[in-house]
Amino acid sequence: MDKILITGGYGFFASRFKEFYSSQYDILAVDKDILDIQNEKKVMNFIKNYKPEYIIHTAAIASTGFCNENPEIAHSVNVNGTVNVAKAAKEAGSKLVFISTEQIFNGNKARGPYTEDDKANPDTVYGQNKLKAEEKIREIIDELWVLRFTWLFGLPERGKGINPNIVWGVIKSLQKGEVIDVSDNEYRGLTYVYDLLGQFSKIFDLPYDTYHVGSKNDYSRYEIVNFILEELGLENRIEKVVNKNTEKYAKKARDIRLNTDKIREHGVKFLDTKEAIKKCLSDFNYNLK
Ligand SMILES: NC(=O)c1ccc[n+]([C@@H]2O[C@H](COP(=O)([O-])OP(=O)(O)OC[C@H]3O[C@@H](n4cnc5c(N)ncnc54)[C@H](OP(=O)(O)O)[C@@H]3O)[C@@H](O)[C@H]2O)c1
Repeated sequence: MDKILITGGYGFFASRFKEFYSSQYDILAVDKDILDIQNEKKVMNFIKNYKPEYIIHTAAIASTGFCNENPEIAHSVNVNGTVNVAKAAKEAGSKLVFISTEQIFNGNKARGPYTEDDKANPDTVYGQNKLKAEEKIREIIDELWVLRFTWLFGLPERGKGINPNIVWGVIKSLQKGEVIDVSDNEYRGLTYVYDLLGQFSKIFDLPYDTYHVGSKNDYSRYEIVNFILEELGLENRIEKVVNKNTEKYAKKARDIRLNTDKIREHGVKFLDTKEAIKKCLSDFNYNLK
């Protein structure tokens, strides 16, 4: 079995990856209590000692708000930490998968979907960190796949991390009796984490390169929230529980969708967003339509 080291091991993606592939790979998932990626020496020794075939580097501070407020900490983890992992991967002869983000396109003037060849113009610290990390590690290691993820969704599971995501966000708001205030001018790729996991091992067969990863989505965030409510069997309540916010992003739509044709052409295909939402709700017995 190939050995895989996955950083950020308690996180939303990594904790599911570890379980999903436990019979196919020998996986060691480490988070900052065991391997703080900011510690250059420790990262080098740990990785040289373990010598994994693959390293999947997911560890990051992924909160845009936190990164904007704490740019030094964000840089130390998201940029310097990633450089440490890349240097150690190179030294150990490991192949590296780096998880980047759609959010590198946050400040672009034109609308998405963006291709891998479009110039990114991040306007948040988190987006800037991820783009900088991509650039730096390309100089360090050739055996590198950079995967720019769209916004992932899934539902809580015991012993695994959960991220703020659209499906869980809607269900939480319903539980709390909150009105869901949502923009009709925002467009993002939305990917079901288990759809992504099902495809993930194919990444290791791709040419080393940068890829946009995830489902295609033609709908605004408002339309998607309505769709989730319909699938939950709550279409009668949409008017009451959803506020269509037409002012947010009215001057300029927020459209950070990724064009995923390149990875599709390599046979890595994802469900369309609505199908993916249906699958997620059905997997967790929430499809009450
Ligand atoms: N989820 C998405 O929608 C999405 C979309 C695009 C890209 N991405 C990227 O995909 C990756 C995985 O996302 P995710 O949602 O699984 O993120 P996540 O749940 O926040 O997982 C990241 C993990 O890294 C840990 N970490 C933070 N600082 C660290 C350090 N110094 N050393 C080692 N580990 C550290 C975090 O611990 P703490 O939580 O304790 O800080 C967390 O367990 C991230 O790189 C993220 O930027 C995610």
